[in-house]
Amino acid sequence: MAAVKACNILITGANRGLGLETVKQLLEDSCPKRHIFATCRNPDGPKSEALRELAKKHPSVITIIRLDADDPCSIKESAEKVGSLLGNNGLNLLVNNAGILARGTIQTSSVESMKNTFSTNVIGPLLIIQEYLPYLKKAAKASGTPGMSCSKAAVINVSTVGGSISTMPSLFKQFPVLPYCVSKAGFNMLTVLAAEELKADEILCMALHPGWVKTELGGEKKPWMPHPAGELAIRTLQNH
Ligand SMILES: NC(=O)c1ccc[n+]([C@@H]2O[C@H](COP(=O)([O-])OP(=O)(O)OC[C@H]3O[C@@H](n4cnc5c(N)ncnc54)[C@H](OP(=O)(O)O)[C@@H]3O)[C@@H](O)[C@H]2O)c1
Repeated sequence: MAAVKACNILITGANRGLGLETVKQLLEDSCPKRHIFATCRNPDGPKSEALRELAKKHPSVITIIRLDADDPCSIKESAEKVGSLLGNNGLNLLVNNAGILARGTIQTSSVESMKNTFSTNVIGPLLIIQEYLPYLKKAAKASGTPGMSCSKAAVINVSTVGGSISTMPSLFKQFPVLPYCVSKAGFNMLTVLAAEELKADEILCMALHPGWVKTELGGEKKPWMPHPAGELAIRTLQNH
């Protein structure tokens, strides 16, 4: 993580799993002006205890913000709050990490599971990009350097190989998680189109697959790709 120079970073789903691990690894970095907006849907709940502890230890670096990817009002409110804290500064890096997994096949997937996964994994990130775009644009303009990078202004969408149209068919029998895969395929398209639209503002948009990681979502089963927690994500951040 030492090469990540982004100052102002926002991460969704930062209270556990890969999101929390990303916050921890960013703290190991020696970027002096770093500020992390660690967002989660229930900052006061039991699942956010580890994040609260971390924020207590690093009060000048971490601010916990409520953001429910399933709730447009909370996304808007979070952006207003972050905007007031950023003041004249922009947001360098937005990490759309929050996500849910629902199991199912063509024959068993319910309307509810399709709607829920699409809402959290696709519509939420779209609204988050929309609300935070003014701050990303501000960071891009303020950087004064040409080109695109995570240090300047970027959106990283934490996706999965499960959303790959070419890869997933061969894995589907082993991982019958159709609502998740369909939503992540949509998320990948969202990323590609965001990259296309926002390149004029020199905002980098990319999706990454973090590898199989033992989290609540990742589960305990045999790895698809045995990267240690977030390693690929971190490598990707370092290389941009
Ligand atoms: N683990 C893997 O093997 C793996 C592989 C490929 C891709 N990924 C991707 O990596 C990302 C993180 O997954 P993970 O393994 O860290 O999962 P996880 O441990 O289950 O954590 C999921 C995170 O998303 C949050 N979240 C869920 N719904 C939310 C909502 N509506 N609003 C805000 N936050 C919400 C959860 O918050 P709560 O505590 O409030 O539920 C939690 O912080 C996901 O996008 C996933 O698709 C993971």
